[in-house]
Amino acid sequence: MSRRLSLVVFLMAGLTGGFWSLGYSQMCGRCHGLPGLASPDGKPVHVDTLVYAQSAHGRLECTGCHPGNWTYPHVEKNPPTPCGHCHEAEERDYALGLHGREAAAGNPDVPTCTRCHGVHDIASMAQLVAARPAMQNLLLNKCVECHTNPELMRKYGIPLDRFLTYETTAHGRADRFGSVAVARCATCHGSHAVLPPTDPRSPVNPQNLAATCGKCHDDAAQFVGRRYHVASEARPSLQAYTRMLSSFYALLLFFGAVATVLMVVVVLRKEE
Ligand code: HEC
Ligand code: HEC
Ligand code: HEC
Ligand code: HEC
Ligand code: HEC
Ligand code: HEC
Ligand code: HEC
Repeated sequence: MSRRLSLVVFLMAGLTGGFWSLGYSQMCGRCHGLPGLASPDGKPVHVDTLVYAQSAHGRLECTGCHPGNWTYPHVEKNPPTPCGHCHEAEERDYALGLHGREAAAGNPDVPTCTRCHGVHDIASMAQLVAARPAMQNLLLNKCVECHTNPELMRKYGIPLDRFLTYETTAHGRADRFGSVAVARCATCHGSHAVLPPTDPRSPVNPQNLAATCGKCHDDAAQFVGRRYHVASEARPSLQAYTRMLSSFYALLLFFGAVATVLMVVVVLRKEE
């Protein structure tokens, strides 16, 4: 090998080495980290690289999900790698559940991987456990977004009070006062294989309640055969308030009348 050729090989190795050590993410970030970056047709293509670096995929290169975009101009227009390519177990569970089955059938009303987790800001499970807002967001808020939407729930005949009956009872109250040990929507229903309670595989099927509630309650047998999402009977209805108010007025009128009669009697006595 001539000396000149080995110098060229050495230089090329050095250059590619430098290129690799820069990392694709940093390379992509030089453009995509610019706020306001958009495609010629106006579609925003900015990615917050700081948020990305702290996310669950922070150590994964951008090209892990965008293998076709590593040169610019981006000639290949590949769709991003599907999440299930790397997360097979979650993908399998999701496909088994009602949300996943409906999504596969093309129903746009049900949650997808990115609808619940986000895209470039996905929280890791460690972040979920450490930060209360992150945890609440994934285990509670995401479900509530759709399950308190009146039109959506009416369309599928699903009761609208699932959040209210959670929020106003023991778990919801403890949650609001900062408990992290308490059950939220996904703790009971599961997060990926979400099934109607009538399905024997659902963790909230009557047959599985002892096990599901038993994860946190010693005396879980007492819950079997009971409903969970029930509105409190003790809460006075509007009618009850109206009734209370009218009886209050009746009392006021009565005592008012008695007081007037008494006053008239006193005045008449004095005049005598
Ligand atoms: C020189 C600047 C630049 C670099 C470097 C760059 N991009 Fe882009 N990228 C753009 C611009 C501008 C667009 C808007 C659409 C277009 O012009 O093709 C874009 C669009 C995209 C899109 C969405 C459009 C699509 O469907 O292809 C993805 C995904 C993407 N880039 C990923 C990457 C990744 C991953 C890297 C690093 C490996 C990267 N880009 C490096 C400028 C850049
Ligand atoms: C874990 C997989 C994953 C990684 C890693 C990833 N992306 Fe993406 N990216 C996606 C998905 C999925 C979409 C499509 C989002 C959608 O359609 O709503 C997307 C969309 C995009 C788009 C199109 C505009 C947009 O925001 O919808 C750009 C640009 C982009 N990614 C750039 C990047 C850059 C730059 C990095 C690295 C800093 C990166 N991506 C890392 C999964 C990923
Ligand atoms: C309805 C909202 C929702 C959807 C849709 C969803 N997830 Fe999740 N995912 C969650 C929740 C909540 C957790 C955390 C609790 C848990 O572990 O079950 C989670 C946890 C995860 C984890 C971490 C698991 C672990 O124990 O380390 C991965 C990975 C994941 N999801 C990937 C996916 C993928 C891939 C999809 C799409 C096939 C998806 N998720 C769809 C809500 C969702
Ligand atoms: C190219 C492979 C790849 C793809 C595609 C991918 N991920 Fe990941 N994902 C990873 C790796 C690697 C980790 C980090 C695992 C670790 O730190 O132990 C991760 C971590 C996660 C975590 C946190 C898990 C934990 O236990 O903390 C979630 C949630 C997650 N991914 C969701 C998604 C979602 C949603 C998508 C689709 C938008 C997706 N992933 C696409 C490779 C991938
Ligand atoms: C993007 C909106 C959306 C999100 C987010 C969402 N759901 Fe759903 N969910 C639906 C729709 C729509 C249906 C009805 C699907 C059908 O019947 O075809 C449904 C069905 C259900 C069912 C079955 C109801 C029955 O008896 O048929 C349960 C249980 C459920 N969701 C629980 C959850 C939980 C728990 C979460 C959060 C981890 C969640 N959902 C997040 C939209 C959503
Ligand atoms: C992730 C753990 C967890 C799961 C799963 C769970 N709970 Fe709880 N539950 C709690 C905690 C923590 C409290 C205490 C809140 C408080 O201080 O009032 C609680 C309180 C209660 C209370 C209030 C009365 C009491 O015992 O203090 C009832 C009733 C209850 N849970 C029923 C259920 C039922 C029914 C299930 C299953 C469908 C269930 N729980 C599943 C954690 C859980
Ligand atoms: C402590 C466990 C637990 C928690 C927390 C919980 N659920 Fe449920 N969920 C159940 C059980 C058990 C059923 C079965 C019906 C019943 O007992 O009321 C059910 C039923 C449902 C159904 C099916 C509708 C039907 O036919 O009754 C939906 C939808 C639902 N829950 C949504 C939610 C949402 C949204 C949240 C969070 C705001 C949530 N659940 C929190 C245990 C729970």
